[in-house]
Amino acid sequence: MSEPFTIAIDGPAAAGKGTISKAVAAHFQCAHLDTGLLYRVVGAQVLQGAEAIEVARSLTAEDLEIDGLRTAAVAQAASKVAVIAEVRAALLDFQRAFARRSGGAVLDGRDIGTVICPQAEVKLFVTASAEVRAKRRYDELIGRGETADLAQVIEDVRARDARDMDRAEAPLKPADDAHILDTSDLAIDQAVAQAIAVIDARR
Ligand code: DC
Repeated sequence: MSEPFTIAIDGPAAAGKGTISKAVAAHFQCAHLDTGLLYRVVGAQVLQGAEAIEVARSLTAEDLEIDGLRTAAVAQAASKVAVIAEVRAALLDFQRAFARRSGGAVLDGRDIGTVICPQAEVKLFVTASAEVRAKRRYDELIGRGETADLAQVIEDVRARDARDMDRAEAPLKPADDAHILDTSDLAIDQAVAQAIAVIDARR
């Protein structure tokens, strides 16, 4: 892909969109931006006492490399700062510039197909049941050596879904022209293969 070509991959937490996005970017040899990291940087700094809008306005690509962005506490903080309109507005240009770089780009998040890149050449909405997503997140936490309680993880997933879907600003929802990919009953390689097939069909 030498021309700009944007692949928008949205969906709720732990639906598999991160893994699918990385695999798709590797397959098509294009850049990948996990846009959740932008909100996680802001959330992490807020937990340290910073002011959300100021952090969002001064965010740089290097900030995405900082450690500790993957914890459950930072995920909840990210979801909270993500409801602030000024935070979302401050992060818009960074995402749009990334999306139109030459060579193609995969962006994954919640509002890529609806708000950030409504003109994206391909839009996927990756989803799965809350129980399946919570179990995956639980296994991931345990795999990283963290302690976790499955009932608590299900509650966290539901709380984050509700906050992400019910907010006024850029709520989580599929774009009208998104292809829905439900991964509840798919192994990861099957989900990746389906995503690649959808993208190939649109190229
Ligand atoms: O994808 P993630 O779990 O890293 O995202 C963390 C939070 O950031 C998520 O709960 C909502 C917010 N987010 C968002 O509002 N818009 C995006 N494009 C990506 C993430």
